Amino acid sequence: MTLDKQDHQLIKEAKQASKNAYAPYSNFKVGAALLLANGEIIIGANVENCSYSPTNCAERSALFAAYSQGFRKGDITKIVVVTDTPIAASPCGVYRQVMSELIESECPIILTNYAETDIKISNIKELLPYTFTL
Ligand code: THU
Repeated sequence: MTLDKQDHQLIKEAKQASKNAYAPYSNFKVGAALLLANGEIIIGANVENCSYSPTNCAERSALFAAYSQGFRKGDITKIVVVTDTPIAASPCGVYRQVMSELIESECPIILTNYAETDIKISNIKELLPYTFTL
């Protein structure tokens, strides 16, 4: 899969979202952008907390915003995650678990860096095989 014009727009919005990150503890700013089937883009950034564990990652911020607006997994067609790093960041196990419930297993997940020198395209089926479900 190669990136199209819309993917570049999503990367641009995720980059912009990362600027809103509240990351005073890690200084690691992450932005996420979701593309919805209706063409709408929903963004998210990481929001940290001094007791650390309540920290919300960029992916969760965007997904929770989408779900809060009434959208569901079938409405989400793509996720982009962007960090200002030499290589793209990869979501931790907790965020993968959240994504496994809130997006379709084959929904493309694009991981990249600001410079777009590292681009990984995956999905949650690949990132979290044998996921936990009830
Ligand atoms: N972080 C994200 O928001 N998404 C990821 O995929 C990786 C990590 C955030 C959480 C925390 O605020 C900071 O990056 C350092 O872990």
